[in-house]
Parts: sequence; structure tokens; C-alpha cells
Amino acid sequence: MIRVLLFASMLILGSRALNFQLDELTKYIDSHQEEYVETLREWVAVESDSSDVLKRAELDRMMDMTAEKMRKMGGKVEMVDIGLQELPSGKTIPLPKVVTAQFGSDPGKHTVCIYGHVDVQPAKKEDGWATEPYNLTDINGNLYGRGASDNKAPVLAWIHTVEAYQALDIDLPVNVKFIIEGMEETGSNGLDAMIVSRNDTFFSDVDYIIISDCGWLSRRPALTYGTRGNCYFFAEVEGPKQDLHSGVYGGTVIEPMTDLIGILDTLISPSGEILVPGIREAVAPLSDEEWKMYQDIEFDMENYKNKIGVSRLMYSNKVELLAHRWRYPTVSIHGIEGAFSAPGSKTVIPAKVIAKFSIRQVPDMDPAVVEKQVTDHLKAAFAKRKSPNKLKVTMIIGAKPWLADTGHPLYKAGREAVKEVFKVEPDMIREGGTIPIARTFQDVTKKSIIMLPIGGFDDGLHSQNEKMSR
Ligand SMILES: *[C@@H]1O[C@H](CO)[C@@H](O)[C@H](O)[C@H]1NC(C)=O
Ligand SMILES: *[C@@H]1O[C@H](CO)[C@@H](O)[C@H](O)[C@H]1NC(C)=O
Repeated sequence: MIRVLLFASMLILGSRALNFQLDELTKYIDSHQEEYVETLREWVAVESDSSDVLKRAELDRMMDMTAEKMRKMGGKVEMVDIGLQELPSGKTIPLPKVVTAQFGSDPGKHTVCIYGHVDVQPAKKEDGWATEPYNLTDINGNLYGRGASDNKAPVLAWIHTVEAYQALDIDLPVNVKFIIEGMEETGSNGLDAMIVSRNDTFFSDVDYIIISDCGWLSRRPALTYGTRGNCYFFAEVEGPKQDLHSGVYGGTVIEPMTDLIGILDTLISPSGEILVPGIREAVAPLSDEEWKMYQDIEFDMENYKNKIGVSRLMYSNKVELLAHRWRYPTVSIHGIEGAFSAPGSKTVIPAKVIAKFSIRQVPDMDPAVVEKQVTDHLKAAFAKRKSPNKLKVTMIIGAKPWLADTGHPLYKAGREAVKEVFKVEPDMIREGGTIPIARTFQDVTKKSIIMLPIGGFDDGLHSQNEKMSR
């Protein structure tokens, strides 16, 4: 965290850095290390789990603490009301406020806006944590705690960067704005509308947006220039009026589950080829330049295999594997609602089953087109079965991919900062997952965006024993 903090300072200081200022900042940051860890401890102690409405008071307190921290630093802070959240019961509760802050408003300087979030995934000791998840614990320089890496320490790194400048009375070379939300882990409810409504105010003077809500790929520092999007589908097959007993009715009815498994099997081949017509054709081809970039990335296939616990991967060379992780689409089948899934052996014929699957999106796929391609394909596969059952296909999420220009001055600044602090060239990486906020920022504000990971490759985001290295 400490080096990264310096690294964050470098990024905003950029080429205007004067050597003595850098030395001063380094000394200041090193000598305040324990204070930074203490603040992180206070933040991690707040169970700001956005998925649990019973913890909403904690989440609200987290937003207050975030605002208060920046207010104390003299920032122009606002807590923005983003409306109500509708619960499955139909009841509504207020969404946690979004905290915005501003340090400096010199029209002669560029303005960077830092995005982050201070809500976390759920965590319980019983899930398999070695330590209490909300009690930050230092083991050999690794700080264990829920939200340590995702995303509390990265948010604090940026705030503390500003604080270090202030403490040393060094003029910030850019104006700095913050937008910190509390619903990221559950889909950033309410944030899109807020960004749209603030486009002509808060965002109007922003030049660059920085997102530090991702991780490195290996021990080598990285800059992230792309994320995949995601189209999430429900495919529902409905047959008999009610669940049937297979001993009595089996062999006399065409079973919805058989239809469903049959059509799901037409989505992807065993070797990973997507079989929905038009999808492969839409994918931007891998350029020689990209191939070369992937070739240079530090990535250990054996390690990866061991980490995820599989005996064989789909692809045996690094470039292909990374390409399929980041820049090719894939189909994943997640579950079947209505299917018998409890332990034991019930001989039921479910009357209605709903498959949940998703297709990761990459340039130049378009979710609206994918929706039609998938629907048409499944309907055609279903028609071939001549089944009396009914099929319904719905796309419930259509998030586009995001890709940045790695030649942009923002990425040049990022590279310089990494080289200055870590003395190595960063890996240029992508995320296989989906971070819709990057795409929203780009589509709405039209500003340049950089994703600057502050988390380690083994930080365990969303899982047990999440940590941030000192
Ligand atoms: C947190 O863990 C430390 C040991 O690392 C322990 O001394 C302390 O009592 C714990 N605090 C809480 C609130 O559980
Ligand atoms: C938001 O403002 C920017 C200028 O800062 C403009 O280019 C963009 O089109 C605006 N977006 C919307 C949705 O109006």
C-alpha cells in the first residue's frame, strides 16, 4: 500500500515531479505508514456489506466516515442522495449516499476524478477465514480483512496521496475530485442516473477518470486497459401444469428439462467454440501487436492451474489462454431454477425450468445484436425438437465491454509512474470480468479513463482471506 501510495502520487505529479518533492513525499509516506494502516483498520471494521439490507446502517456510517475524512482535509464534500432501492418485498429504502469531493479548482490545471467504492462483499468467519474478516490483521506484511483490497485501501491510497501533498505544503499539480459509492458490489444501483444528472456540473471540468477497482495479474505491476462486458440470459421451458412423478408419467410427456438441456448444449462446443451464429464473426481479430503484448506479459500457467485447482486448461499456451480470458467471448452456464437440486434422489419431472447463462462481451460485439442472435438460435434449436412445451428467452443484463487506447497520455503517465516507483515496465492487462462503471463513465462523460490496479494478484477479492499487502 505504501509504495502504491507513492505511485499514486507519482501519477498525478507526472513529469512535473521535482526530485526534492519526490524525496519529501517518499519520506513522508514511509514515516506515516502506521497511520495509514490504522485508518484502514477503522474502515475495515465497518461491515459495509451492500448486499445485506440489515447492514444498511453500517453502510451509511461508512459513507459518512468517507465524507468526514475528506471534509477534515478541507475538501468540498457533498453527500448525494441517489434515491430509493426497491426490495424484493416491494418495500423501499434509501440507497446509500454517493460521496463526491473536490480538492482544488484552478482552471489552469487539469482535473482528475477518482472513482472508488467503500461497500464490501459479505464475509463471515465460518466461510473459512483464518482471521476475523472485519478485524484487520497483519500477518507478515499482509493486511487481512474484508474490503482491504476491494476497495477500501485503494480509495484510502488516493485520499492519503492528497493528504501527503497538503501536509508537505506541495501544491497539487492537478485538481482532484472523488466519486465514492456504496453499492458497487450489488450493481451500482442508482449511480448511472447520478452520473448522467451530474454530467454538466460535477463532471464538466473533469479531464481524466481513474478507477482503481481491479488487481494485478502477477507480482509485476500492471495497468488495465480493457474489461469484458456481459449479456445475462434466462431461458425458460414450461411444460405440464404442475411437477409430475416420473414413475407415473415418465415416458408419456416431453420433459421441459430434457428440452432445456438439449438447447443449452447447442451454445458452445466442448473445445470452447461458441456455436451461436454471428458471434464469432463479430469479434475483433487479434492483431500482431496484441499478440506481441500478450507474449510479454508475466503469467505462469502452472501457477494459475494450481491456484484454481484444475488438471488441464482449455488452452496450452499463454497467449491463447490470456486472449480467451480477456478478449474473446465465452458462454458460462450458471444454474437451473426449478430443477431438483437438493441432496437425495427425488424422481420428479419439473414442470418449469429456467436456465441462467451468460456470454462475456468483447469488441466489436453489441449486446442488442447478441440478444437477437441468442434468442433466434435457441428458438431454432428448440423448434427442431418439435416439442409441445413453451420456450421463453430473456436477456436481463446487457453490459458492453470497455477498451482504452494504451497510447493515450494517461497510460503513458501510468507507465512512467510504475517505472519510477517499481523500476519495471508494467504489464498491460485486461480484466475478464465486467466493470460496467468504466463503460458508463466513457459513454456518458466522454472523458478518458484509466484503470490503475492497486490490488495484488493474490488479494482474494470476494473470497475468504482477502488482503492488501503493506
Ligand atoms: C482483533 O484482533 C486482534 C489480534 O490481531 C485482537 O487483539 C483484538 O481483540 C481483535 N479485536 C476485535 C474487535 O475482535
Ligand atoms: C456530457 O458532457 C460532455 C462534455 O463534458 C459531452 O461531451 C457529453 O456528450 C455529455 N453527455 C451527455 C449524455 O449529455
